[in-house]
This record gives sequence, structure tokens and C-alpha cells, in this order.
Amino acid sequence: MKIVRTVDELKKELKKLRDKSIGFVPTMGFLHEGHLSLVAECRKQMDVSVVSIFVNPTQFAPGEDFESYPRDEKRDLDMLEGAGVDIVFLPSVEEIYPEGNSTDITIKSELTKKLCGKTRPTHFNGVTNVVGRFFCMVKPDKAFFGRKDAQQLAIITKLAREMRIGTEIVGCPIVREKDGLAMSSRNTYLSEEERKNALSISSSLMNVEKMVGTLSVDEAKASVRERIENANGKVDYIEIVDPFTLEDVKDFSGDYMVAVAAYFGKTRLLDNRARINGVCI
Ligand code: PAJ
Repeated sequence: MKIVRTVDELKKELKKLRDKSIGFVPTMGFLHEGHLSLVAECRKQMDVSVVSIFVNPTQFAPGEDFESYPRDEKRDLDMLEGAGVDIVFLPSVEEIYPEGNSTDITIKSELTKKLCGKTRPTHFNGVTNVVGRFFCMVKPDKAFFGRKDAQQLAIITKLAREMRIGTEIVGCPIVREKDGLAMSSRNTYLSEEERKNALSISSSLMNVEKMVGTLSVDEAKASVRERIENANGKVDYIEIVDPFTLEDVKDFSGDYMVAVAAYFGKTRLLDNRARINGVCI
């Protein structure tokens, strides 16, 4: 496994491999099985796998957890080595955003304003800035993203299509702990009690999935809210939307996604369950 820290080193490594198919998995590190599932899919589909680890400052608003975001480079590298990754890119902030940077990669779309965009209005601008730059550096044939961050996936899919960079975006299923909690680097912030209470998110989503057909959209949202609030969670949003356009759906007759953001203590957690092409994921 090659570890590179500069764009020049990355390009040099990739130059030798341009006759092969290149897959890319961007991450912010503190890796877990969710990240590794993207790596496994990338390795399955592509000749070469490139993973980036970069806690991107521009996607955190002032007062959010940029400084305290968990980091463990040694552990991450061991995990990626074990997963059979070819190249790991570990850039510094200056490498990604050169001093005096004035370039902004953004998408002007309602997609960035809904769901997480309401409480984190600058977040997706930071995400498109970093992922857009990575795409220019790596030029991957395919890039792999998790459905846990379904809004991010929708935004990046639009970015890749509109920038015409020729990278196919692949969405991968949510990986969960045995008890149902969606894996996240931020789960490490949860106290034992918050961790237990946070299960109300996945269990309320599973419950809606079982009850589809008997509940209206409003009843479904109310049932998710009730379970989360009964477990001391503070709901940021519960929305039932089209999984790709993120437009509200009126009923459960077609594809849908029930998307939730909720706080347990100070930790904001995301989760969703969707039906896509008739399959529940
Ligand atoms: P991060 O939160 O580290 O996630 C990296 C990738 O792993 C994302 O595509 C995310 O959706 C996926 N992922 C996280 N938890 C998952 C789970 N439980 N199951 C499946 N996939 C999961 O998302 C980011 O970093 C950043 O915004 C990034 C795209 C790297 C840009 O900075």
C-alpha cells in the first residue's frame, strides 16, 4: 500500500496506473466497517483502489466538531492495509486549499438547502469543494459513497454529472451495528446511555418500513418522532422524500426515503431507510 501526502506524489503514483480502472473512496478517517464496505465494493469493481483520509475543515461550521473530530492515522492505515487498498492519500489542509485559495466548487441547487442543509447551510459547499478537488486530482473512473449520507450522495452525483468529469458515482448500502445503529465515526461521542437511546432512530425507521401501506406520510413521521423523543432524542428533521431528488413524497406508492437527523446529547446522528426500485435498503 502506497501512502502519499502531496498531490504531486499522488499524480506520480497514478500516472503508472492509468491503463487500469481506478476507484476512489473519500473519507474523513476514524474508519469503521461502513467505510470498509465502500473499500470492498471499490476493490470488487475496480483494478486500483484509492482512499483519501482528510478531515475537511470547510464542511464544518464554526462551533461544530472540526477540532474534536476523532482521528487515528495509525489505526486507519492498518485497516486500509488489511483491506488491500493500493493508494492512501493523506493530504494537509494547505495541500487541498493552497494559501490564498479563491476557487469555490459549489452546486447551486435546492438539493443543498433541504434536510441537513437547513441546519447546516454551509456544509455541502464544503463537501463539493473538497470532493470536486479530489475528483480533479484522482480522476477516478468510479467513486464510492455510502447511502447513510444520502443527501451527500445525491449532491455528489449531480456534481459529477454536471462537471462532466466522467466519474461514475456508486451508492453503497448503510452498514449497521448488530443492534441496528448506523455506523458512524461520531458514534464514539455517545455515552453508554445515549448509545442505547440512539437505537430509537433505526428501530423507528424499521417500524415505519413494516407499517408502510397502513400509515400516511404524516402518521409515519409522527411515529418516528414519538419514538425518538420518548428516548430523549431531539429531532432535527424527519422527512419522507424521493431518494434522488429529495422532493417530498405524498405517499408510499413509489420509491421513498425516510430520512432522520436527531441529537442524542450533543451528538447529531443521521440515518435513513429507503425503497429504491421496489427494494428496501
Ligand atoms: P465520512 O463521514 O468519513 O464518510 C466517508 C464515506 O463513508 C461516505 O461516503 C459515507 O456515506 C460513508 N459511510 C459512513 N458511514 C457509513 C455506514 N454506516 N455505512 C455505509 N457507508 C458509510 O462523508 C464524509 O466522510 C465526507 O463528507 C467526505 C465525502 C469524505 C468529504 O469530506
